[in-house]
Amino acid sequence: MLKFFKAGIAIAASLACLSTGQAQEAVEGQAQEPAKPDIENGQAIAVGTYNVSPGGACFRCHVMDGAGDSVAGFPRLTDQAYEYMVESLKAFASGDRPSEIMQPIASAMSEEEMRDVSAYYASREEAPYPPPPDVDPEVLQEGALLSTMGAPDEGIQACVNCHGPEGIGMPPTYPFIGGQYATYIRQQLQLFKQGERRGEELGVMAYIAGLMTDEQIEAAAQYFASLRPENVTPEQAERPVAEVTPQLGTAPIPDDILGVE
Ligand code: HEC
Ligand code: HEC
Repeated sequence: MLKFFKAGIAIAASLACLSTGQAQEAVEGQAQEPAKPDIENGQAIAVGTYNVSPGGACFRCHVMDGAGDSVAGFPRLTDQAYEYMVESLKAFASGDRPSEIMQPIASAMSEEEMRDVSAYYASREEAPYPPPPDVDPEVLQEGALLSTMGAPDEGIQACVNCHGPEGIGMPPTYPFIGGQYATYIRQQLQLFKQGERRGEELGVMAYIAGLMTDEQIEAAAQYFASLRPENVTPEQAERPVAEVTPQLGTAPIPDDILGVE
């Protein structure tokens, strides 16, 4: 248990310590230098100007600004990292990440289209939030404890170790979860727990969620859904988590991808 705990931290640290440039090199090395994503084409895909698949226009569920839908559990994409979205779309297409809704949509897209539309959503900076869920303060407190301390006796490590302070995410590997919707967080943790979504090759989340009770999952889902990343103070953001300063708010697209000098 302890070994795994340490391994998790080491992975977090080593992945997080890659500079964006190095990570990008690694990504490009694998994908044989794909072209820079075209945000305008990404917008055309999001709006459904040309159809990637029947019923596939992203805005119908994720909205043009990426706000998604808290009730339906369509995840918020506005604060999500570019690389993470590209990888998620590939995982939906291959079936590594099963989803009846997203699989046919992602399967109909080329990798270039995945990159374009992910670049579009990663470039959205603001989208309105619904009011935070009205939750029993004790449940929120349990969620806050899990987030910052984990449950060491049960082998569950603190969510912030990997997801950053207040769950703002640590691009490219660790998705934002602070301000994501409870319906979606709960569903994803259950999918990890049940082994339906394995995740990256080490299966870190499947392992962690497998240790969580349904009550802990509920507490984590409600707690993270109640956070608003824009409320993360610079002091919190600068707190060393896995020795990096996480990126605040919308995960930026690396300049070299956008062609910015
Ligand atoms: C009919 C509704 C619907 C449409 C249309 C749709 N999505 Fe989704 N999307 C979902 C749902 C539901 C999920 C969660 C799936 C799951 O993991 O079970 C999701 C998940 C995602 C994720 C993963 C987010 C994360 O945080 O892991 C990405 C990225 C995404 N969608 C992008 C897109 C793009 C790009 C399009 C358009 C090409 C699109 N979606 C169209 C409903 C939709
Ligand atoms: C050791 C690192 C690590 C820790 C600790 C960790 N996570 Fe994760 N988490 C990940 C990684 C990596 C992913 C990306 C999914 C994948 O590919 O496996 C992820 C994905 C998720 C997702 C899916 C988000 C999305 O949009 O698809 C949720 C929800 C989540 N984690 C919740 C939690 C909660 C709650 C905790 C604390 C109890 C936690 N995580 C602790 C590494 C971690």
